[in-house]
Formats: sequence, structure tokens, C-alpha cells
Amino acid sequence: MPAHVSAFGPGRVNLIGEHTDYNGGLALPFAISHGVTVRAAARDDRCISAFAADIDERDEFSLEAVSPADGWRAFVRGAAGELDRAGVALTGASLEIAGNVPRGAGLSSSAALEVALVLALLSVADAPEPDRIELAKLCSRVENEWVGAQTGLLDQIASLCGSADRALLIDFSKLDVQPVALELGDYRLVTLDSGEEHTHAGGGYNERRAECAAAASQLGVDSLSDATLSMIERLPEPLSLRARHVITENERVRSAVQALDGREMEELGRLLDASHASLRDCYEVSTRAVEDAVDRCKRAGACGARIMGGGFGGSVLALLAPGSAPPDGAVEVRPGPGARVEAA
Ligand code: GLA
Repeated sequence: MPAHVSAFGPGRVNLIGEHTDYNGGLALPFAISHGVTVRAAARDDRCISAFAADIDERDEFSLEAVSPADGWRAFVRGAAGELDRAGVALTGASLEIAGNVPRGAGLSSSAALEVALVLALLSVADAPEPDRIELAKLCSRVENEWVGAQTGLLDQIASLCGSADRALLIDFSKLDVQPVALELGDYRLVTLDSGEEHTHAGGGYNERRAECAAAASQLGVDSLSDATLSMIERLPEPLSLRARHVITENERVRSAVQALDGREMEELGRLLDASHASLRDCYEVSTRAVEDAVDRCKRAGACGARIMGGGFGGSVLALLAPGSAPPDGAVEVRPGPGARVEAA
């Protein structure tokens, strides 16, 4: 049994394909170099102790009966609880958690934390690592059932399956993941925090998800990605608007893959703008602070900028044309490798 391990879960950027994951659609995310590290040491009892170094808070619980908790503790207990439910023979562990993904900024600090926790607990228990898509599903159950956010699989798959210099084309109808070269030439991708913290466990995200389920059920399709624009005319608002976003966003993901393939960066920028307009006008997840951040990126010379992640605040993603200076506070992002474990 390794005495000490260090597991890293990266955050993610989603180039395009927003709110498509829980609708059986397409997305094009990549893992980034910012993330969460969990250092773990085995204990010889059946207890997990956790120290959140960035906020100087602690938790301790017994593996005999893992009870729910709030805030960051929900993730730790959920990771242990879901691994136990999956039949993994966990051992006691002492965990130290530290991260550099800004929380609530739409870069998926939550998935980074789940992924790092689950990999650390598996490794310290000397348990074999399951298939990474299965692991993504387990991490998403942590978020759905322990944290209370009905999020999809986008963030967990991006964090677990990321690959340097590549984005991932994910087809959520089959959970198929294809790497796509992300060669931007002299263009740069940056994120800019709107300054407005978002939370998925808050109402807006779960409400959108419920609206999509209602729209699919009224149309008699398994998921909105099986619907067509002509079908959705019979839906009442706002369901027709939500469905329009999903159907057109899937199309934009396909076009973005083609634009990358042809190195057509201005076209990629146009698709980011169109995605933003749809998220603002049809999905209605933008806010004043987000619109201001998009405007700042455009004024700085972005050929495309859009809200990223669940919405209702968080970060904006912008594609900057060669020679343009990023707005103050923007952070350049590049695809990095997926989650990993090392001996510590
Ligand atoms: C959040 C969720 C994801 C996904 C995006 C929107 O990041 O965690 O599952 O739904 O929002 O694309």
C-alpha cells in the first residue's frame, strides 16, 4: 500500500457546447493546468480526516457510517460514500486539500475536487482504478447526491480524460470521447472572471435541467438532442427557447470542430459569439456582470467571447486575435493533461 500519494484533478475550460451534456448532446472542453491537489496518507483505523488548507478547516468521519455534510465537506464525504457504495474496500486516510482553481468562476473547481478526492482515496486504499468514464459517473453522483447540484458529466470527463494540446469532443449520447487538436496559431484563449460567483446547487441550473426534461417529455424524445427545430415550434415558452439553444449549440460544436480543422479562427470566434447570444437570449443564463465581462473582452480585441459553464455568473471565455492585449485580470488557458496520481 503506498503510504503517501498526491492526486491532482484539473479544472476545465469548455470551448463550446454548453448545457448540452445533460441533453445527450456535444461539447468540446479541455482540462487546464489549474486544479486541486489532494495529498493522502493511509491511517490504520477506519476514519477519514480532511484538512482544507486554503480555508484552514477540518473534517473527520468514520467510514462505518458516512453521513452528509455541507460545503466542501459534502465532497469529501460524498467521494468516500460513493466509492464505498461502488464496492471499493476503502481504508482510513488523512487528506490535505489545496487548490488553485478560483471557486465559483465557472472553471469547475467542483469536478477538480471530486476527481482529486476519488483518485486519492482509491490510490491510498491500493484499489484498482476503474475505467475513467465510470469514474466520471461516480464523481458526478457525488455532486448530484451529496452536494445537491444536478450537473451533467462535462466537467468530470474533461478533468479525467484531458490531454495536452487537445480538446475533447464528447458525444454525451454515447459517452464517446475523441481528442481534437487545438492549434490556434497566434490566437489565444483567455478566461475573464465576471466577479459574480455562481453556484450549481443554487436554483437556476437545476431549474434549466428540469425545463429541458419537461421539453423532451412533451416532444416524446429521450433527450433534446434527438429533437429538430421544426418539432420545437409546438412547445410553449420558455421550453421552446431552451430546446432551441440545445439543438443549435450541438450544431455549433460540429462547426467548431470543422473550424479548428481548417484553422479558421475568425469562424471559431463567430461561433463563440453565437453560442453566447443563444445562452443569453434562449437559455437565459447570463447576467449584467457577465455581459460587462464579454464587452471588455470584445473591446480588447476578442474575435469571440462567451459565458462559460453553468452560467448565472462565473467566467467568460474569449478568443483573442493576434496582437491584442488581454483585458486586465484575464488568464490565458491551454489544454493540459488529465487527472493523475503520484507517490508523494
Ligand atoms: C456546469 C455543469 C456541467 C455542464 C455545464 C454547462 O459546468 O457542471 O455539467 O452542464 O455547467 O454546460
